[in-house]
Amino acid sequence: MFNLAIIGGGPAGYTAAEKASKAGLSVVLFEKEALGGTCLNVGCIPTKTLLYSAKQFYNAVHADKYGVKAENVTFDYTKIVQRKSKIVRKLVAGIKQKLQACTVVQGEAVVADYSPAIITIECSGQSYEAEHLLLCNGSVNFVPPIPGVNDNQYVWSSTDALAATELPQSVAIIGGGVIGMEFATLYMELGVKVTVIEALPRILPNMDSEIVALLRAKYEKAGVSFLTSTRVTSVDENRVHYQSAGAQSEECVEADKILVCVGRRANLQGIQGLAGLSVERGHIVVDEHMLTNLPNVYAAGDITGKMMLAHVASRQAEVAVGHMLGVQDQMNYNAVPSVVYTNPEIASVGLSVSEAEGDNFVVRKLPMTYSGRFMAENEGENGLCKMIVDKHTDTIVGVHMYGNPCSEFIVAATMAVQSGLTSRQLQQIIFPHPTASEILKEIL
Ligand code: NAI
Repeated sequence: MFNLAIIGGGPAGYTAAEKASKAGLSVVLFEKEALGGTCLNVGCIPTKTLLYSAKQFYNAVHADKYGVKAENVTFDYTKIVQRKSKIVRKLVAGIKQKLQACTVVQGEAVVADYSPAIITIECSGQSYEAEHLLLCNGSVNFVPPIPGVNDNQYVWSSTDALAATELPQSVAIIGGGVIGMEFATLYMELGVKVTVIEALPRILPNMDSEIVALLRAKYEKAGVSFLTSTRVTSVDENRVHYQSAGAQSEECVEADKILVCVGRRANLQGIQGLAGLSVERGHIVVDEHMLTNLPNVYAAGDITGKMMLAHVASRQAEVAVGHMLGVQDQMNYNAVPSVVYTNPEIASVGLSVSEAEGDNFVVRKLPMTYSGRFMAENEGENGLCKMIVDKHTDTIVGVHMYGNPCSEFIVAATMAVQSGLTSRQLQQIIFPHPTASEILKEIL
């Protein structure tokens, strides 16, 4: 019997397996596809790899503004895709290496029987018993009930788009959320004609509205079309039919590919054997220790539907394993950084400006150009940094940034928010000069 069985080898599953085995627990981990899960195989890492190539091309094309002449710049998309696959392979191998002390079983696991003392899991014709179970089954692409989306050769999921070895000449993206806008960035930088169709009044509805407006204006200038407050009514072959708010009739956009990015749903397959497990609105219900309502059954990652982010998943996994080991720890979602890898990047943490409305907060704002390093490296960009400070306690409660490379220093803001730093305390910290991160002191 194992001390711990883990279903799913994504950021939640592999982090838990590594931590638990290091602490001396015997661990069996089941993965039906590849270790690393969505994030490593068909999510964060492959997109960032493709985006990096696209950015290199885009920067070369626009090198003139830095006094550099680069003529007839081209790219080889096959090579770009091969590089992405090589990076993914290397990272998957790295995870395998880290899990050497665990039993890793390839196959689709099903919970066959549950009692608080013994949990039985079946996988590939074998039975496994464990004292604890950690469900890290992740999430799957949501396919919206739009007529014509299924079994249509022109329709891509994000996984299809990542696997493609050729670029379309035009793409219609349904959903202007995080995935939609990261793909819009990739295609826009590589010269593909992009149309983004978003049901809500604005793209990236969870990010700061002022920052999103700046991004949208920049992308529109680069040729991206946005249809917001627009409902897709149907798809037929390579045509997307839509109706915009206030419009009298339907309109249509044609594209070589139609990329559907309208969110993800928790993957609850294989857990039917857990009778009585509490599931609400399609997610497993967990407490602050990632414990479900069933003794010895934990869940971490997208399946909990808290925040579908790899870094949240791995932290949840640490908390779950810690709880099994009797460590005092718990989840806190007040300081979860969030990054959108557009160009420029958007990064944020803590309270949003709309949440901070009222008399209790001050919202400070400063263009990123107040940082000398930002000026040196971001010709033609202003960027924006916003910091929300509690008026009464001087505590930093939220930071929102637009400008490269804010994804790399949002962690400094995260540390400030998480540890309840006051703006005076942040002022006393020595920042390296010259770095774009200095904007976090300039703004004080
Ligand atoms: P999302 O929830 O971020 O965005 C989906 C968008 O589609 C929303 O804006 C929604 O209003 C719109 N939408 C829904 N139905 C529609 C319809 N029928 N027509 C037009 N628009 C429609 O979901 P997304 O982008 O698919 O991402 C899935 C998950 O993956 C998210 O939880 C996201 O946070 C996570 N993720 C995070 C990344 C990051 O941290 N950089 C990168 C990629 C994904």
